[in-house]
Amino acid sequence: MMLERKQRFNVPEIRSKVAQISTDIGTDVFQGSQIVAYAELEQIYSGAMREIGTKLENLDDEFQLKNRHNPIHHMECRLKSIDSTIGKLRKRGLPLTVESIRQNLYDIAGIRVICNYVTDVYAVANTLSEQSDIEVIRIKDYIRNPKPNGYRSLHVIYQVPVFLSDGPHPTPVEVQFRTSAMDYWASLEHRLRYKNSIEDGEREKHYETLKECARQLADIEDRMQQIHQELG
Ligand code: GTP
Ligand code: MG
Repeated sequence: MMLERKQRFNVPEIRSKVAQISTDIGTDVFQGSQIVAYAELEQIYSGAMREIGTKLENLDDEFQLKNRHNPIHHMECRLKSIDSTIGKLRKRGLPLTVESIRQNLYDIAGIRVICNYVTDVYAVANTLSEQSDIEVIRIKDYIRNPKPNGYRSLHVIYQVPVFLSDGPHPTPVEVQFRTSAMDYWASLEHRLRYKNSIEDGEREKHYETLKECARQLADIEDRMQQIHQELG
């Protein structure tokens, strides 16, 4: 049976989104051949995300077999929307072109890897970094050095080749490794950040509480990690 395949990189759809964005911001973006170039870019970044996703799944399987423990709880993948991509270019004062996306933005393809323990985070991230076809472009370790608001996660930008008919296209993918506790904290902080209907004083109070929660969660994770290791 042939399954009908959804057209994932849809040029007419991109064209109409771009027309809408151009009207909204009062500047023309992605003219003519840039629309097709953008669709190609989406296709390559989606391929890169799939490559890294498969590598992570393979590592998870191997760990499970060797250590009877799955380091990865689950993964979330996303391709940055055209609206956010253009928004980011504008915020940074960069040219609104496909070439500018390629040269300046590393988070078009993003994977969030939610692990059980902090040791799993580093085990998976380091093993992936060592693979011969992967290059590490940038590491931001907010687990060793949490952000002032308490945010913790390990951000690594990997570059992976995507092989197409004309050869390899080295493509960056931003991977955010975190534990379930870090994820749960980040979701709440994100909600607070984007909540408009809240007084400044109230927001500040919640931010202070969240900072304290981040410290306590880190402490609890440490203690649970020890039990996990002792259980072997
Ligand atoms: P931007 O992508 O423009 O933010 O810059 P960057 O790539 O230099 O930032 P960074 O690597 O520090 O963070 C990128 C992503 O991590 C964000 O898009 C969020 O998903 C996440 N992140 C970073 N800091 C925070 C934070 O304080 N709270 C939450 N909830 N998420 C964060
Ligand atoms: Mg980013």
